[in-house]
Amino acid sequence: MPEAPLTRAEAADTPNLDAFFRPTHDEYVRTRYIGVLLNHAMVNLRYAVWDEYKASAEPAFKKKHGRAAKTGKEIHHALADNTFYRTYSSFRYNAQEMGPQSVQAPVERVIPQLNAAVARVPDNDHVGGTLRLNRDIEYPHYLTSMDAHLTPGGYWSEHAGEGDISQALMLQGRRIAGPVVNSSRDFGSVGAAVGTWLARKYPDFKPRRILDLATQEGKQLYAYRDIFPGIELHGLDIAAPSLRYGHAMAAYKGVPIHFSQQNAESTDYPDGHFDLIVSSFFLHEISVPATKRVIAECYRLLAPGGILAHMELPPSKSCEPLLDFSFNWDARYNNEPNYAHYRAQDPTGLCTAAGFDRKKCFELEVPVPATFKPENYEKFLKGEMASPPHGRGGWFIFGGRK
Ligand SMILES: C[S@@+](CC[C@H](N)C(=O)[O-])C[C@H]1O[C@@H](n2cnc3c(N)ncnc32)[C@H](O)[C@@H]1O
Repeated sequence: MPEAPLTRAEAADTPNLDAFFRPTHDEYVRTRYIGVLLNHAMVNLRYAVWDEYKASAEPAFKKKHGRAAKTGKEIHHALADNTFYRTYSSFRYNAQEMGPQSVQAPVERVIPQLNAAVARVPDNDHVGGTLRLNRDIEYPHYLTSMDAHLTPGGYWSEHAGEGDISQALMLQGRRIAGPVVNSSRDFGSVGAAVGTWLARKYPDFKPRRILDLATQEGKQLYAYRDIFPGIELHGLDIAAPSLRYGHAMAAYKGVPIHFSQQNAESTDYPDGHFDLIVSSFFLHEISVPATKRVIAECYRLLAPGGILAHMELPPSKSCEPLLDFSFNWDARYNNEPNYAHYRAQDPTGLCTAAGFDRKKCFELEVPVPATFKPENYEKFLKGEMASPPHGRGGWFIFGGRK
């Protein structure tokens, strides 16, 4: 028999779910080690692969074609049989695959207590946050056909039956033990980067209600509350485990967030319900037709004057071939098949096809404020200084104003 939901008074003592992740010394060290390994593969060894290409494969390519490679795809084919590249790919693949495995044991040990704790948090929590789940939701083929980025069970699996949130702790555990790439708790400070830029770029913009699509456990939403005081926070995701986790953690932190389990391609919110719609690390996960439906839905959901801002990988068209090649590695080897298809799109074209006016669209890299000096931010806004690049102190964003 499940325990009764917490009363409002008891809910004030909502447990910190992150504290359920209690790895042993050896488990903790293993997770950290794998995080360092993955970071090494993704950052340092990337440049070693570039050097290898320039030293060996590029001269052969130029000799054969009479020109340099123009695309990342050409570079991939030129390197496909290169031993260094193959070793790199094997190293990185294994580092990626070992990540979830390294947190599995400490998560499995606490599943009963974890699920019992979260089941007692009422859907209408004591701080005004809400959780709306849809047990009949259909998970699209692009999510169920494989384990995204080699994480067994993807985002949505409920291994221990209905209500199981262990998959959310699996995803969170790696962040807690860190370092994984973009390891900060709010995953690269995307909310701070996007919100700060919006507030500085559009001083007249005073959003009252924000929707974060594919919010997972809502970690990016907290920054918008700091930047736009009083804003009503809504987070939508298709996967129940992280929403339950996010709802309980928001209650624990005393922050009212409205979480809803829906497919972002078609939602039940009324027309014009939001002033600001954002997403991060989302569109590369879904098919291109689904992306088009999501952006059309965003247009419908925005109030006049509202702003859409998706943070995503930079498109192929704006990357040097070597960078393009590196970004698309995941499409081939990391169970992220939509990466390359998504990156082949024109972001502004996606927005105008959904109804946005081209003159009110944007696509650019914006700095993470915490690591970019305020005086430099002024220069950046005046166009006198570039943002740090995507994933290196800045993030690529695109969108438009309705
Ligand atoms: C990489 S996570 C993004 C997490 C978060 N936005 C962040 O900034 O870290 C991708 C999320 O997309 C969600 N997702 C995938 N397809 C979806 C869809 N069609 N509708 C809503 N959410 C979806 C997954 O459940 C997962 O939580």
